[in-house]
Amino acid sequence: MSRLVVVSNRLADPRKPAAGGLAVALGESLQESGGLWFGWSGNVIDEAPTGGGEVHTRSSGNVTLATIDLGRDDYETYYEGYSNSVLWPVFHYRLDLADFNTRYLAGYRRVNALFARQLRPMLRDDDIIWVHDYHLIPLAAELRALGCRQRIGFFLHVPLPPSLILAAIPQHEWLMRSLFAYDLVGLQSEADVNHCMRYMTTETGATLQPDQRVSVAGASVQIMAFPIGIDVEEFRQLGRSSEAQNTYERLRSEYSRRQLLLGIDRLDYSKGIPQRVRAFRELLERYPDNVRSATLLMIASPSRDAVNAYADLRQELEGLCGAINGDFGDIEWMPVRYIHRTVARKRVPGLCRASRVALVTPLRDGMNLVAKEYVVAQDPDDPGVLVLSRFAGAAEQLRDALLVNPYDTQGMAEGIQIALHMPLEERRRRHRALLENVERFDIHWWRESFLRALQRSSQTSASAA
Ligand code: G6P
Repeated sequence: MSRLVVVSNRLADPRKPAAGGLAVALGESLQESGGLWFGWSGNVIDEAPTGGGEVHTRSSGNVTLATIDLGRDDYETYYEGYSNSVLWPVFHYRLDLADFNTRYLAGYRRVNALFARQLRPMLRDDDIIWVHDYHLIPLAAELRALGCRQRIGFFLHVPLPPSLILAAIPQHEWLMRSLFAYDLVGLQSEADVNHCMRYMTTETGATLQPDQRVSVAGASVQIMAFPIGIDVEEFRQLGRSSEAQNTYERLRSEYSRRQLLLGIDRLDYSKGIPQRVRAFRELLERYPDNVRSATLLMIASPSRDAVNAYADLRQELEGLCGAINGDFGDIEWMPVRYIHRTVARKRVPGLCRASRVALVTPLRDGMNLVAKEYVVAQDPDDPGVLVLSRFAGAAEQLRDALLVNPYDTQGMAEGIQIALHMPLEERRRRHRALLENVERFDIHWWRESFLRALQRSSQTSASAA
């Protein structure tokens, strides 16, 4: 069995209780193979040694966690800059928010080269390497330039937009061509795969090969959809924790005569949070039966707040929530409970179960796992309703959710009203179908099918060579 090496910008100790489903699932494969997880420590140091500092390693069971610190300039240009002010907005279709500063590109290239240089000596010939997300797109090209011949797969957790949007990135060709250094590229949805295939054939002149492979100038890569899922068992167990149960019971008694609508996101402009508040306001205006009876609980955890677009969003949202509470609230009831803090993961199943409706309404999202967690947390005899944006990757799988268009304020308000009044039979039927999908395409399915395809993919490219 080959050793698995995972590389991602952030990493988590898979054995720590706060580790999410992804860390736990990757951790299982890493444990089995005595693997290595490499990434940024999360620390920023003011005086970084030229050429990068040392690699810090520690063990967690059978897994080696190896991290490097980033210098202040690298952090600002690679992480805040190119990753989160160029790739993140463009990949989420927000060209208006992108900042194509050339300093950012230099930092992005430097840190990817640094990751490759630091990782290279730790690699063994028969390792299988799995790189994650938009921070590290050119990593395989950097590793290949250092002579690495191992199998390397890449999974993009965010959406991949169509060519005409990608083309706004001044270096789009360089970026997309660097994907050819991978054996396998995994994307969240079939829509993303179509965008990628079309980009490759029209912009790089690549030709389509069998098995979802594209090739150009002797290089070839397989591009497939692997919609990410959740660890259903882990989430159910979390639901049995005292924190989850207390949260559920407290909210249930507080809202015994009111309906709770829930949103949980990072405070990010891709999540459509202001649009959701506007739709909720529209709901109260058009359907006044909800006044004093429906409450929107919105948890938006702080994220990337040094990036301007995030600070602007925070202000906008505070204005919107303040206005709706001021206009509609009374002494006993406030329409919106907005929390700009991170809630403990253990409370999430309780929050989900206590809510009659979940509003997962991003303007664009790679997948959105809150949608899947909400489904798992429901009581199958009396389940809540998932209102899901058609622009979330999850909408490709979760067809039985109540799909809405977050740009359409009135339509979304109508959707929420339907959700709040949905008859029990319909709620049960939709929930059964959703749960079946979430259980079937869980995180284990995702991990195993990606790794199996990577194993096969490299055999195919080796025999083709
Ligand atoms: C998204 C990205 C992840 C990222 C996470 C949190 O889910 O796909 O790669 O880690 O957001 O963002 P942050 O910038 O705090 O790592």
